[in-house]
Amino acid sequence: KLFPVVMAGGSGTRFWPLSRKARPKQFLALVGETPLLAATVARLPPLAKLDRTFVVCGPAHAAAARRILPDLPKDNLLVEPCARNTAPCVGLAALHVARLDKKGVLAMLPADHHVARPAAFREALAAAAEVAQGGAIVTLGVKPSRPETGYGYLKVGARLDGPPGEGREKPRGKAKPAPAKPAADGGAVARRVAKFVEKPDRATAQRYLADGGYLWNSGIFVFRADVILDEIRRTLPDLGEQLERIDRAIGTPRAARALAEAFPRCPAISIDYGVMEKSDRIAVVPGDFGWSDVGSFDALREVRAQDARGNVVEGEAMIFDGKDNVVLGLPGRPLAVIGVDDLIVVDAGDAVLVCRRDRAQDVRKAVDELKRRG
Ligand code: GDD
Ligand code: MG
Repeated sequence: KLFPVVMAGGSGTRFWPLSRKARPKQFLALVGETPLLAATVARLPPLAKLDRTFVVCGPAHAAAARRILPDLPKDNLLVEPCARNTAPCVGLAALHVARLDKKGVLAMLPADHHVARPAAFREALAAAAEVAQGGAIVTLGVKPSRPETGYGYLKVGARLDGPPGEGREKPRGKAKPAPAKPAADGGAVARRVAKFVEKPDRATAQRYLADGGYLWNSGIFVFRADVILDEIRRTLPDLGEQLERIDRAIGTPRAARALAEAFPRCPAISIDYGVMEKSDRIAVVPGDFGWSDVGSFDALREVRAQDARGNVVEGEAMIFDGKDNVVLGLPGRPLAVIGVDDLIVVDAGDAVLVCRRDRAQDVRKAVDELKRRG
């Protein structure tokens, strides 16, 4: 049985001024008409039903999540008392799924990604779920196209159906595995992951890209509840201990209090650094489903329609003699951009951003400064 779990507790700052504290990236309709969180849930059927889907977020966003997901059963929204990054989020979700089915398979889904080909995505997810049933911790891998330092990298090992141990990192192993590619029948071939490296530095990322034997970690993980809870206990014993306290109280009148007490004591660490880098049961199912994590305004050019000169335009914005701009205006508020290229211009009504495209990552500086001013 597959239990999708949407991780919606992030506080992305790279979409200011569209994103605010009360409305982080996953609540924005950055592609199409639906907020990214709603789109994440909407692309699941017929693979999984809503009554088996969980959403995990913080108290500040629970009401908004309920509003955009009116059909999600009330108990399927798990509210973290505070943000402790993704490892505790995964642990909490696994406890709840284990209550329903000890060997239930979780599909951890970031709430703020875009998938251009949902059918191919579901196919990869289904293949990963099958592999996960056998006890592997599976991630969906994506072919890298640039030396991105904000992602995890997976060194692709042998086919998963090969002899055990094969494909693990060997100290002097010379043989390079064939690059992962979808099987001829269209189904994805699962591979062992010889090494998981989260957010490498630029030089390393460049090396991995040139090597060709690495995939990006999409951040979409699939594993059995019992398997991940075991692995958390082994790699993050402090987290394991707090999870046990939470687990003992689930379904009792003490549940809320136990959660409020134990959760802040969980180590604040991502599942990538905390578990994936340390585990030796990671497998990857490569997928080609038009994945983008929509990392910045600049990334909108990958996922949105462009005009003939490469501009992304929204609202009542107009561009004259300019190319490769991202200009997001509002309905009823004309916005003109003339004679400039590679610019990001965003009008949020009460705040405006003007930024060079290659500085899109620096938008968070404005957020930091606003925080400082209070
Ligand atoms: N519930 C909850 N609680 N969700 C959280 C929390 C939390 O404390 N922190 C983050 N999330 C959610 C975010 O909203 C996002 O949907 C997802 O978890 C991943 O967190 P990010 O903070 O966006 O991670 P990242 O982008 O730095 O890195 C991850 O994703 C990359 C691909 O986009 C890693 O898995 C990388 O290895 C991967 O390449
Ligand atoms: Mg992310």
